[in-house]
Amino acid sequence: MSSGKPSVLVVDDKENMLKLFARILGDAYAVTTAPDGLQALALLSARAFDVVVTDIQMPGADGFTVLREVKRRAPDTEVVLVTAYASIPKAVEAIKEGAYDYLSKPFDPDEVALVVARALERQRQSRDARGLAARASRMPDFHGLRGTSPALQKTHALLAQVASRELTVVLTGETGTGKELAARALHRESPRRDKPFVAVNCGALPAELVESELFGHAKGAFTGATGAKAGLFEEAHGGTLFLDEVGDLPLPVQVKLNRALQEKEIRRVGTTTPVTVDVRVVAATHRDLAQEVSAGRFREDLYYRLGGVTVRMPALRERREDIPLLAMHFLAGANRPELEGFTPQALRTLTDAPWPGNVRQLQNAVARAAAVAAGPRIVPEDLPPELGTARVPVVQMSVGPLPAEALAKQPYREAVDRVRDAVSRDYLTALMQEFSGNVTHAAERAGMERESLHRLLKRYGVRTEDFKRGD
Ligand SMILES: Nc1ncnc2c1ncn2[C@@H]1O[C@H](COP(=O)(O)OP(=O)(O)OP(=O)(O)O)[C@@H](O)[C@H]1O
Ligand SMILES: [Mg+2]
Repeated sequence: MSSGKPSVLVVDDKENMLKLFARILGDAYAVTTAPDGLQALALLSARAFDVVVTDIQMPGADGFTVLREVKRRAPDTEVVLVTAYASIPKAVEAIKEGAYDYLSKPFDPDEVALVVARALERQRQSRDARGLAARASRMPDFHGLRGTSPALQKTHALLAQVASRELTVVLTGETGTGKELAARALHRESPRRDKPFVAVNCGALPAELVESELFGHAKGAFTGATGAKAGLFEEAHGGTLFLDEVGDLPLPVQVKLNRALQEKEIRRVGTTTPVTVDVRVVAATHRDLAQEVSAGRFREDLYYRLGGVTVRMPALRERREDIPLLAMHFLAGANRPELEGFTPQALRTLTDAPWPGNVRQLQNAVARAAAVAAGPRIVPEDLPPELGTARVPVVQMSVGPLPAEALAKQPYREAVDRVRDAVSRDYLTALMQEFSGNVTHAAERAGMERESLHRLLKRYGVRTEDFKRGD
């Protein structure tokens, strides 16, 4: 693009066609022409073009050969095939091989300009997607916690600040916000990093078991206690004990936990001998502990003992600016290297979704989309449907309520024509919205020839440019 204009290579064995293309495209683009496929290949080996417009039937190397060579050498270059009516099926086939679109002869100059403009737009989007991928791969992380939003950066700073102190930390936040990651980060940032990190989910254990899990038990302390066993407090000695879902602890165990924290010693179930433990406790809960206290479900003394510092992990919807990079990061881990990213609409669906399950839900949504996507980019249809419910585009029909007398005042033909015109315009608008101005795909859905759709769009003044993808 040395001239500043995008570069277009036109390949056709008919001199007059080359002239026609040069006339149509010459103002907006730097046009180079090649009279046959072989010369095109020679040019392509010497330099890059943004778009290649090539005839299909040519002596020597045909349009498909040119397409394959372009895609092999410079996958970024978009290829538009020019085809006679008879080879349209082959041209459609070629789209699967990477051609951007085709022009069927005879064509409108407008159509040529439009298809080249859209090919360039598509190329820009691919580059954007790669830019996003590159930024995602460079995204800094705090022990696995990723995000550049001010909300998360503030959280990281606070975690880093309290990590080295011996304070008990309570991590709060909705499910999937990274509480466990944060607990591990606290451990790794602390002087205890080389000692054990022991995690226990207090909500997952039956009440009878929690106590012996935490504090251990003596041989014969209860039925089934065939041997003496150290508890998790002892296992975590010197390190960090992560009490996940601490709000779910049964009240009697809360009493014992409070005492253990206070005295820095525990007693195994069935013994009276105290064991000194040096453990830093990090607790997490998705509950509002203060509210649990007032409801009598959480002991006030334990609440105050734990609550040295509370760090609240922000919900994903409070830091939506992190969503594109996180999504890209998770896509990179999805083992579909051929997927280059997301379409702008897919990204918008992701950034707009409510995310009650936060980062975990995003991770799952991206993994699922990556598994079903046909590529090259993830489209909204690949995403779990529950994400889209937040913003289903609604067509405001222009045929709103019409007073009966107004309708009845007109002759039948006129009334019906008018309604039909309005409905047609609404339909075409919705169709263009759905396919982002891509007439080829829209025509397929509409069940009509692309040329007919073009005519209809023109007739109703619906401009494809207005629906092009982008921000
Ligand atoms: N900021 C983040 N960057 C990257 N991955 C994250 C981030 N936050 C969470 N995750 C990922 O999301 C998933 C859920 O995180 P984690 O288990 O830490 O959440 P949680 O708050 O403990 O959730 P729950 O309350 O459901 O236990 C994990 O796979 C984790 O790796
Ligand atoms: Mg968790």
